[in-house]
Amino acid sequence: MATDAIVLLKNDHKEMRRLFRDFEKAGEDATAAKGRLGKKIIEELTVHTYIENEVMYPEVRKLLPDLEDDILESYEEHHVADVLCMELAVMDADAERYDAKMTVLMENVRHHVEEEEQDWFPDVRKGLGRKKLQELGEALEAARKKAPRSPMQPSAMKKAVDAVIA
Ligand SMILES: [Fe+2]
Ligand SMILES: [Fe+2]
Repeated sequence: MATDAIVLLKNDHKEMRRLFRDFEKAGEDATAAKGRLGKKIIEELTVHTYIENEVMYPEVRKLLPDLEDDILESYEEHHVADVLCMELAVMDADAERYDAKMTVLMENVRHHVEEEEQDWFPDVRKGLGRKKLQELGEALEAARKKAPRSPMQPSAMKKAVDAVIA
């Protein structure tokens, strides 16, 4: 049986929180470890943002018009994270601004994930029901297979550009 969309997305969030904690625990001078964790964080975020942008958000917006404002705010929060991820992807972990930029990225993502989980995922669960959420879960898994893994891949760049000019 397919995984429920909200369960699937919350699992991604959990993994992200774990990576954030590892990054924060790595210590001031652990640049090699932080570079490795930073890459992993950027990869996970790139995939997660892609599957939400491509599948979850458009479907929710269409099926539950009351949540439109939450969706639009979420696109903007994703966009801020995209910009930070693109910058971090070309930075060395020992660069002066690397830790500060990672910290701002993690603060933003934590805030965003909290809003998803507390403010509007519960309305999505109520509004869509089990069967639809399982269908969405399947679509999310399918999107994950073709998702970009780096913010510099064309399919990831495209959504960052669309966010500015659309
Ligand atoms: Fe999101
Ligand atoms: Fe999310």
